[in-house]
Amino acid sequence: MTRTRYSTAAIVLHWLIAGLLVWTVWMGWQAGDLKGAEKIAAVQLHKPLGITIMLLTLLRIALRFIYPAPPMGEHLKPWEVKLAKTVYGLFYAVLLILPLTGWATVSASALIKQYPIDMFGLFNWPVLAPLYDLPAELRHVTHEQLETVHGLVAKLIVYVLTPLHVLAALKHQFLDKDNELAKMIPFLARKDAAA
Ligand code: HEM
Repeated sequence: MTRTRYSTAAIVLHWLIAGLLVWTVWMGWQAGDLKGAEKIAAVQLHKPLGITIMLLTLLRIALRFIYPAPPMGEHLKPWEVKLAKTVYGLFYAVLLILPLTGWATVSASALIKQYPIDMFGLFNWPVLAPLYDLPAELRHVTHEQLETVHGLVAKLIVYVLTPLHVLAALKHQFLDKDNELAKMIPFLARKDAAA
């Protein structure tokens, strides 16, 4: 039977990752604005949140193979399908690239042993040893470059991908009224729509 909505696991992961993304971005911005102990607290929380997003995204991708996404509405124009698939693909890529560049950034930091990636007091996430083992000068330059890349990729998700994704969802719900959003928010499903 063809699915009319995402699996429950995919829906839970979608909203969990979305919530964690907002929190992680907020902590990243706070880290940039604050000073001293408050800055350290923000970065120390930002790190395990980002790693958690990476792990949940990997789980989400694995589940997508087991429970394929429901088909896109047949009424959608080819360019809409193409754009939607591109944005979804970029989302998955960026949700992995961001934590990976963050992980690499802190691995190349001289302070990583002092401020490890503490996974909510449970254990310390490992350091990428090849980066930590670089000669001090090169490690510093690498750290700076990776941090710049991390910040740029974060801007892509905050200012491009998320607005495109949210605007598309709102357009379908309120202008096209095609009930596409109900695939991810089941209680929005109209009674007259096919089950
Ligand atoms: C999906 C996951 C992640 C998102 C959305 C994210 C987002 C951000 C954002 C928005 C900033 C601020 C950039 C700026 O103001 O230019 C930032 C900075 C930073 N992020 Fe991430 N990040 C993620 C994962 C990680 C991970 C896993 C780590 C490390 C383990 C990490 C380490 C850092 C560091 C060290 C900074 C610089 C903080 C400072 O100003 O000192 N990030 N991140």
